[in-house]
Amino acid sequence: MEMANWFGWKSPHNPVVVDSLPTPKFTINDRPHISFSTNNYLGIATSPRVKAAAIRGIERYGVGNSDSRLLGGNLGLYSEVERKLANINGKSHAILFATGYLANIGALSTLPRINNIARAFGFTASRDYTYAYFSDEYNHISIREGMRLSGARRHSYRHLDLNHLEHLLRRSTETSKIIVTDGVFSQDGDIAPIPDLLRLAERWNAMVYIDDAHGAGVLGEHGGGVIDHFKVDSDRLICMATLSKAYGSIGGFIVANGLITEALRMCSAAYGFTATLPPDQAMVISTAIDIVADEPERRRRLWDNQRYFVKRMAELDYKLVSTVTPIVPVWLGEDAKTQQLASAIRKEGIHVDAISFPAVPLKSGRLRIQLNAGHRHADIDHLVDILERNQHLAEPTRRFVAASGNRKHRPAALVPSLTAAAASQPAE
Ligand SMILES: Cc1ncc(COP(=O)(O)O)c(C=O)c1O
Repeated sequence: MEMANWFGWKSPHNPVVVDSLPTPKFTINDRPHISFSTNNYLGIATSPRVKAAAIRGIERYGVGNSDSRLLGGNLGLYSEVERKLANINGKSHAILFATGYLANIGALSTLPRINNIARAFGFTASRDYTYAYFSDEYNHISIREGMRLSGARRHSYRHLDLNHLEHLLRRSTETSKIIVTDGVFSQDGDIAPIPDLLRLAERWNAMVYIDDAHGAGVLGEHGGGVIDHFKVDSDRLICMATLSKAYGSIGGFIVANGLITEALRMCSAAYGFTATLPPDQAMVISTAIDIVADEPERRRRLWDNQRYFVKRMAELDYKLVSTVTPIVPVWLGEDAKTQQLASAIRKEGIHVDAISFPAVPLKSGRLRIQLNAGHRHADIDHLVDILERNQHLAEPTRRFVAASGNRKHRPAALVPSLTAAAASQPAE
């Protein structure tokens, strides 16, 4: 009661009530707005093709799946979507979860415990296994919660600091090591150096688990995310992503070696002991996968807008946390300044998320600008114009900075070049 009273009505989060969802246009009290902080990167959530798929799904199956897939809810439709997800990620197997959050909780809490669970069915392992996670300090909270639930030893390495990671790997005596990283870091917009992580994984006999929530559908020649961006593949990879951002729906999935996905299917309570995706959303996901593949102009517009915004911002005094993905955070530092600037922008009909502690470390406030396929250059010009008029809030430098971490090891990731003439060219 004491804590509830303290939190009570003073919640630091008072999200505004909206009438519609960003496409990126939306309305608040019938007033038109434009969002520069939506995960609907490609505008797929409201595309006619996914709406039609949802309607077909509802007509055929109704609005929900009241059962677990381990019992009566195992529609063939889910396996078709899993096959499609595995296929676009160059793997043989995938497993769907009801959300991205559940995918991380389910997989990370279960991987180190599969042996224990199997013991309950009479299995005896030929040797003792011990587990350790090695996790980038800026990983998403669902990763941190999942690892914690596993009971395995957890090591946190400094953001993108490969020396620190290797130091921890070298000292570890566990038989099974799992390096865990966001593909694109959700609050910083930078990209994990996957090829370097895989090299360390080879050297120290570890697996690499990637959460590509913000890369899937966005990065890479085919929108296949960070793996497509770096053109890497390895049996050491376990790739997770969400279907609620670029894919515009809901759900999460893991693609990996089939022995891993099927062991998760048997052992993860977050898969088997909860209802699964509504069938219409499974149909939506299947269509969204097709849209990412056969409407590359969405990604082309997104990256064109990304480059235009970064170019325009170079004229101003603000520091940008990173400039390599559609998440281009504008650094303010002080939380009060961050809020002040966000509300000045909102007054002019533009929504931007003001990110501060605890989503990021203390005094690391930033506006998390997310570019979108549906932005017009005029929208970007309007935002840059407001930022210019409020430039006294920026720190007086034109350097690009990152929030923290060892700069020596920043990934060699570049902005993909998707020009009008070469929509399907590989990332530079
Ligand atoms: C990096 C990352 N992982 C996982 C999630 C959770 O995904 P979902 O919203 O689909 O549950 C998010 C969502 O914010 C995220 O940014």
